[in-house]
Amino acid sequence: MDALSLLLSAALLWVPVGTLTCYGDSGQPVDWFVVYKLPAHTGPGDAAQRGLRYKYLDEDSGGWRDGAGLISSSTGAVGRSLLPLYRNTTSQLAFLLYNDQPPRPSGSQDSSSRGHTKGVLLLDQEGGFWLIHSVPNFPPPASSAAYSWPPSARNYGQTLICVSFPLTQFLDISRQLTYTYPLVYDHRLEGDFAQKFPHLEEVVKGHHVRQGPWNSSVTLTSNKGHVFQSFAKFGNFGDDLYSGWLVEALGSDLQVQFWQRSSGILPSNCSGVQHVLDVTQTAFPGLAGPAFNATEDHSKWCVAPERPWACVGDMNRNKREEHRGGGTLCAQLPALWKAFQPLVKAWEPCGK
Ligand SMILES: *[C@@H]1O[C@H](CO)[C@@H](O)[C@H](O)[C@H]1NC(C)=O
Ligand SMILES: *[C@@H]1O[C@H](CO)[C@@H](O)[C@H](O)[C@H]1NC(C)=O
Ligand SMILES: *[C@@H]1O[C@H](CO)[C@@H](O)[C@H](O)[C@H]1NC(C)=O
Ligand SMILES: *[C@@H]1O[C@H](CO)[C@@H](O)[C@H](O)[C@H]1NC(C)=O
Repeated sequence: MDALSLLLSAALLWVPVGTLTCYGDSGQPVDWFVVYKLPAHTGPGDAAQRGLRYKYLDEDSGGWRDGAGLISSSTGAVGRSLLPLYRNTTSQLAFLLYNDQPPRPSGSQDSSSRGHTKGVLLLDQEGGFWLIHSVPNFPPPASSAAYSWPPSARNYGQTLICVSFPLTQFLDISRQLTYTYPLVYDHRLEGDFAQKFPHLEEVVKGHHVRQGPWNSSVTLTSNKGHVFQSFAKFGNFGDDLYSGWLVEALGSDLQVQFWQRSSGILPSNCSGVQHVLDVTQTAFPGLAGPAFNATEDHSKWCVAPERPWACVGDMNRNKREEHRGGGTLCAQLPALWKAFQPLVKAWEPCGK
């Protein structure tokens, strides 16, 4: 081989590191995306597609777009981003899958003593992403060797936010997980990942913060330099995430969408300077909508009606979750706020 073809084949074989990011709905790496899986009843009658349609948002999508395919497809944003998990790669990859309602094949039991928190950390030596979501029994463990969407998550609305971060940010992210106290049902933390991220090892072992304060907020900067604010609480915090902290921290009224079909739901709360309002109906803009009730929606997000804050997380507003770990990821990104702000169609007034 001459020098040139050597060089060429080396270039072809060279697998770039640091390519682990969130992927968008058209297969391109993106800094962040949000997927809003729509409730089943909003879609067409076709049984095969029932409850698998979604809306997609990133900073270049120009607002909500119809999902490229079905949420169960491994070529859409969520499936494509999680793909490295299901390829038999080496210890160059580290991951944590956590969910208080783990997937059935993982062998873990639902746990209400752990945080009410669901997500994925996936990283290589350069960086990776944090996916925060509301989806029960998701995603499948790496050993299942294929991406899939659980039947238990078809009926109701669900939200997922994925943000790409450089490696150093995972120090702060892993510290947040010592507050949210996740149930980790699958992980890989080989090579020097465990030394680099001691908190992740602790989290995998089921360790959590041992002394107050019982809440922690950190600023995280994405690959492209966008600023996110992570809010995390441990169960001992003993108060609602939204009325007991977030509303004051963001300095604005908040409209909160959460799962309303459980006991001990907290009503809208106007006892502070800023108000926390429970969303009752969501409507996507345009004639085709769709629109749906909070009773059909398991997703968890909030938006400040007059300021550019929007958050996607994993906590509801109810009595039980005052005493559980969990959190939310907020940002003041125009593209994010402009997409969420108009979604709120109706909310519960205070003193109802
Ligand atoms: C990866 O491949 C090795 C060797 O073929 C095998 O032992 C292991 O179970 C595989 N792991 C996964 C997650 O498929
Ligand atoms: C409003 O929220 C605060 C903080 O969570 C809580 O202490 C208070 O009891 C709530 N008020 C009502 C009327 O629910
Ligand atoms: C924890 O929450 C309280 C509000 O309940 C807030 O005043 C305080 O600043 C938060 N602590 C941290 C470390 O963020
Ligand atoms: C939402 O709930 C209300 C009251 O329960 C009901 O009257 C209405 O038809 C529902 N709307 C949708 C879009 O499901």
